[in-house]
Amino acid sequence: MRVLVTGAAGFLGSHMVDRLLGAGHQVAGFDNLSTGQRSFLEHAFRNPGFTFHQADLLDRERLTRVMEGAELVVHFAANADVRFGTQHPRKDLDQNTIATWNVLETMRDLGSRKIVFSSTGSIYGEPEIFPTPEICPFPVQTSLYGASKLAAESLIQAYCEAFGMQGYIFRFVSILGERYSHGHVFDFYKQLSQHPHRLHVLGDGHQKKSYLYVHDCLDAILIALQRADKKVNIFNLGTDEYCEVNDSIGWICAYLGLRPKITYAGGQRGWIGDSPFILLDCSRMRALGWKPRLSIRQAVLATIKYVSEHSAAANSKCEP
Ligand SMILES: NC(=O)c1ccc[n+]([C@@H]2O[C@H](COP(=O)([O-])OP(=O)(O)OC[C@H]3O[C@@H](n4cnc5c(N)ncnc54)[C@H](O)[C@@H]3O)[C@@H](O)[C@H]2O)c1
Repeated sequence: MRVLVTGAAGFLGSHMVDRLLGAGHQVAGFDNLSTGQRSFLEHAFRNPGFTFHQADLLDRERLTRVMEGAELVVHFAANADVRFGTQHPRKDLDQNTIATWNVLETMRDLGSRKIVFSSTGSIYGEPEIFPTPEICPFPVQTSLYGASKLAAESLIQAYCEAFGMQGYIFRFVSILGERYSHGHVFDFYKQLSQHPHRLHVLGDGHQKKSYLYVHDCLDAILIALQRADKKVNIFNLGTDEYCEVNDSIGWICAYLGLRPKITYAGGQRGWIGDSPFILLDCSRMRALGWKPRLSIRQAVLATIKYVSEHSAAANSKCEP
């Protein structure tokens, strides 16, 4: 199959590229390298089935040239950071919603019919049902990121209905693992490498979070592509457990052999749009025969191992 992967140089995109190439597909990677890293694609560059295109999804002409002939579009490119949304409100709209509309319009022009989309558990805002199922009533959106992703999901659904496309929408919890480049493990590691004896935590440390290991996430997507066949297929992806931020800090500090003095900013939320409790009901995905292999603790440990071994590369481009 010929596959276009947007966000190919990112954390998840680069792993997806490797997985697709490993399965013998031809892959075109599309990325503007705003947060992605060329080094994540070093395996891919050695594969003759791979081409890389450094370009922006807002450039429709370039996107059209690269998408030509793609039977599947894996659309992972986005502004993936919830926390800094309020500093640049236009970014989520452009990178997440308009960019997705560009992908859909280009697919329509070219007759490309199948799209995989990386959505997020953030679209549930602060739900009242736990674990939160896909059919949960949508409460008020609490982040620009979640709102922009939900708008993108809606566009995908409407395009599937109107133009005979097929959509695979995945609502992830936070993903951990190798090539991880943004999020709490990275932030804590960065602080501790600068001053090993103190750690400042946003919120009260009791935020309850669910995390998923990157290869468990990609396994689910690849399984769903084979086993689900509705016009629009929507799946939550996460583990059936959660941990508190304080648990995660304990695992990270034990791994690094540190006992820092911890201070808390306080409040149930670390920042605007932070959800104090995330636990998704993933029984719909599990019914297809998928289950995650790594627990949250194992995924946190794999991540801190990776981040500490790759601290220089581990995202110089991320916002502070
Ligand atoms: N990592 C997580 O925990 C998580 C959780 C939920 C959802 N997601 C979603 O999964 C996807 C991948 O996330 P990630 O963690 O790999 O993030 P990432 O920042 O590592 O990857 C995103 C990639 O998209 C590229 N990109 C951004 N805007 C672009 C544009 N306009 N044109 C071309 N390329 C562009 C970036 O350079 C980057 O390589 C995103 O859509 C994100 O919203 C991620």
